[in-house]
Amino acid sequence: MLRCNPLLGKRLHRFWQEVGFLRRFGVSADAARGIIPPVDDDIERILIPRERIARRVAELADEIGRTYSDSAAALTVVAILSGSVIFLADLMRQLPIRMKIGLITVSSYAGATTTSRGASILGELRVDVRGRHVLVVDDILDTGRTLRLVTAELRQREPVSVRTCVLLRKPAKVPPDVKADFVGFDVEDAFVVGYGLDYDDHYRNYPDIGILRPELYASA
Ligand code: XMP
Repeated sequence: MLRCNPLLGKRLHRFWQEVGFLRRFGVSADAARGIIPPVDDDIERILIPRERIARRVAELADEIGRTYSDSAAALTVVAILSGSVIFLADLMRQLPIRMKIGLITVSSYAGATTTSRGASILGELRVDVRGRHVLVVDDILDTGRTLRLVTAELRQREPVSVRTCVLLRKPAKVPPDVKADFVGFDVEDAFVVGYGLDYDDHYRNYPDIGILRPELYASA
């Protein structure tokens, strides 16, 4: 027969009690023990709080809706992964127009870095744009490499029009040949995270837009 060490048994029992207690309050045991550090600790300063983001996204949806509502041609929204996912989800649910969605992946910041290494489209671009309006949605317009690449690629596929919508724009860095038709906010030239924007794939779930504590990426 298998006999359990009484001390180990007691510890196991306490552990399961703790897990059950925490779960009832929606807290995972790992988070409560500090194994998963809270995201807030890494944010030095909130730049745009969630309420302001929500208000602006509603305004953008209104502007975009008015732009396309009288058009005979249909709309395809092309969103750039992964940074735009939260913005896209909030924006598209407020667009009262018929549309298709296409998703494309562009890589520019591989891993733990805050410096763009040049944009390239990953995989095949499978979006239905011929004879349709195209609205490219991205999280941020920074050096402009991503939007330049994506809009040039889409224009070759005979759409009726190609417009662009970004939640954030860094005016200090955007080159003159790259324009966004719809812009949520102009921001300072600092590396920002949250609301879909990441550093090394973290912080996308942070609901506000903020600036990371510099020591977290200083070595990148
Ligand atoms: P570019 O430089 O091509 O940038 O206009 C567009 C893409 O780069 C990422 N990016 C950022 N991501 N904080 C981020 O989390 C930033 O400050 C930032 N600047 C650029 C982003 O994925 C965007 O699609």
